[in-house]
Amino acid sequence: MKIVSTIPELKEVLPAHQSIGFVPTMGYLHEGHMSLVESARRENEFVVMSIFVNPTQFGPNEDLDRYPRDFERDEKLAREAGVDLLFYPDTATMYPLDMARVTVRQGADVLCGASRPGHFDGVLTIVSKLFNLVQPTHAYFGLKDAQQVALIEGYVRDYFVPVTIRRCPIIREETGLAKSSRNVYLTETEKEDASRIYKGLMDARDALESGHTFNEVKQKLTQTLSEIPDSRIDYVELVDYPTLGEATEASSEVLLAVAVQFERARLIDNVIWKRG
Ligand code: PAJ
Repeated sequence: MKIVSTIPELKEVLPAHQSIGFVPTMGYLHEGHMSLVESARRENEFVVMSIFVNPTQFGPNEDLDRYPRDFERDEKLAREAGVDLLFYPDTATMYPLDMARVTVRQGADVLCGASRPGHFDGVLTIVSKLFNLVQPTHAYFGLKDAQQVALIEGYVRDYFVPVTIRRCPIIREETGLAKSSRNVYLTETEKEDASRIYKGLMDARDALESGHTFNEVKQKLTQTLSEIPDSRIDYVELVDYPTLGEATEASSEVLLAVAVQFERARLIDNVIWKRG
C-alpha cells in the first residue's frame, strides 16, 4: 500500500487504465468503513481510500477539533483490508484558495441538513474535489449516512460526474448500534441505551409494513426514543428516498431517519422501508 499526501504524488501513483474503486473517509476506521473497502476490492482492480477530516462540513460549535484521529491504526487497517493507495492530504492541499464551493439546492433542509446548516455543502465540496483528483470509476458510500448518499447521487447526476456510486449497507454492533467513529464518545451505559434506537427503527418499519400511517409510526418512534435516558431527540423523520422530499402514498422507498443527542455524541441511524 502506498501512502501519499500531495497531489503530484497522488497523480504519479494512480493507474491510468484500471478500474478504480474509491472510499472517502474521515478516518478512525471501523468495520463500517472496512465493508466499503471490501466492496471496492471485489469490483475494482485498484482501491483508493482517502482520510481527511474535512473542516468545511463541521459547524462552528461542532466536534472538528476533538474528532477522533489515529493515523497509525488506520494505516494498518487499510493495509490489511487491501487498500492500494491511501490519500492523506492536509487542509492547505485540499483548499488551495477556497474561492469556490458546491452548494446544495434541494434536500439539505431536512434531517441532518436542518440541524447542521452548511454541512452538506461542505460534504459535496470535498467529495467533488476528491472525485476530481482520484477520478474513480466507482465510489462507495454507507447508507449509515443515507442523506449524504442521496445528495452525492444528486450531485453526480447534476454535474455529469463520470463515476458510479455504490450504496453500501449499515454495519452494526451485535446490539444493533450502528458502528460510528463517534461511538468512542459514549459510556458503556450509553452504548447499551443507544441500542434502543435500532430496535425502535425496526419496530417502526414493521408498523409501516402492517399498514400504520406515517404519522402513527413517527409518533410511536418519537415516544420510544424519548424514553432513552440522558439523551435528547434531535429529529425523527420519514421522507421519500432518495428524493428526500415528503413521504407519500406513492413513495416506493421511505427513509426512517433519526438523530439522538447523548452527552458527548450525536448519533444518527436509519432504515429504509421498501413498499410491497
Ligand atoms: P466518515 O464518517 O468517515 O464515513 C466514511 C464512509 O463510511 C461514509 O460513506 C459512511 O456512510 C460510511 N460508514 C460510516 N459508518 C458506517 C457503518 N456503520 N456502516 C456502513 N458504512 C458506514 O462520511 C464521511 O466520513 C464524510 O462525510 C466524507 C464522505 C468522507 C466526506 O468528508
